[in-house]
Amino acid sequence: METSRRTVLAAAAAAGLTAVAATPGTAHAKEGAKPVKELFGTLADGTKVHRWTLANGGTRMKVLSYGGIVQSLEIPDRHGRYANVSLGFDTLDAYAASSPYFGALIGRYGNRIGGSRFTLDGREYQLSVNDGPNSLHGGAAGFDKRVWDVEPFSGPRGVGLVLRYVSADGEMGYPGRLDTTVTYTLGGNGDWRIDYAATTDRPTVVNLTSHTYFNLAGEGGGDILGHELRLPASRYTPTDATLIPTGELAKVTGTPFDFRHGKPIGRDIRTAHPQLVLAKGFDHNWVLDKGITRAPQYAATLRDPVSGRTMRMATTEPGMQFYSGNFLDGTLHGPSGRTYRQGDGLCLETQHFPDSPNRPDFPSTVLRPGETYRSATVHSFSAR
Ligand code: GLA
Repeated sequence: METSRRTVLAAAAAAGLTAVAATPGTAHAKEGAKPVKELFGTLADGTKVHRWTLANGGTRMKVLSYGGIVQSLEIPDRHGRYANVSLGFDTLDAYAASSPYFGALIGRYGNRIGGSRFTLDGREYQLSVNDGPNSLHGGAAGFDKRVWDVEPFSGPRGVGLVLRYVSADGEMGYPGRLDTTVTYTLGGNGDWRIDYAATTDRPTVVNLTSHTYFNLAGEGGGDILGHELRLPASRYTPTDATLIPTGELAKVTGTPFDFRHGKPIGRDIRTAHPQLVLAKGFDHNWVLDKGITRAPQYAATLRDPVSGRTMRMATTEPGMQFYSGNFLDGTLHGPSGRTYRQGDGLCLETQHFPDSPNRPDFPSTVLRPGETYRSATVHSFSAR
């Protein structure tokens, strides 16, 4: 039985637990109030980076103007105890020095483009090469490394931030000036919704996503192998050794990739399936059975049985990249002071399929002048 958000919060308030801040000494926005802004740091070129604190419906969030990074996402467990369930850093320097996209907005093209090039309307475009032969997450300086304009809001829809970034024509090799708006909204029920929109002045390709690393036990709380994951997807896109899809939409039936009925992530992760061997775990795109939808539809459930924290995702996108944190190698550590090792966090990236610009058989990622790219993903939290 699912305990309602209100019941958990009421129990927590009675136990005096809601006042506990996971990161002491930082600004805390009031539930439902306009997000609070503070200076977070200054980049080497002198640009100031701000941090916004939001709270609504029992969910608390901290967002940076740098990369639109979700620096902290706090939700209660079944006893009302809050934890930051997203991996990240304490300082801007740590993010700027080297971050595996912790919490960041990803663009102009989330995931990989094979050979770092594609052809559109008969013209070939050479992209920034930053992952072996491929272009990953928009290239060497993608949207995750840009400073966004941020406008806070609060109203009947909830509280949130409108983030805007204009990517110049030719940036990272992509054609067209891309005017991008991403809205983070915390609803009255604690849902975190992301709305993406973009327009261009020349034909281009777009695939925007969010690269939050989740650990529902709390950041620094160990690995996610005990988390249960459900993905309503009968097929996935197997890849070559550089993680570019081969083009096949393979059935998950009878493979470690079958998450349709939900299972602990660790159950099959060490199976010697060739696809798990080459990716060092899960790092694949699942083809969601629902396909592309106008409104967000059910796409995943992630649950930590120990804390009871549960996240349900819904999206308009046709694909979900589930990445089991395979490249975390213990060299980085988060606000808890604990190092992040392989499997200490996982990403669920809603998206179009990797390498779509080179795959006419995959759903198209082409955006033309006069059209508006739109995508939306909702994360709902509960504890049971
Ligand atoms: C994505 C990719 C992974 C990896 C991470 C960042 O999820 O699919 O292969 O590059 O980003 O480390």
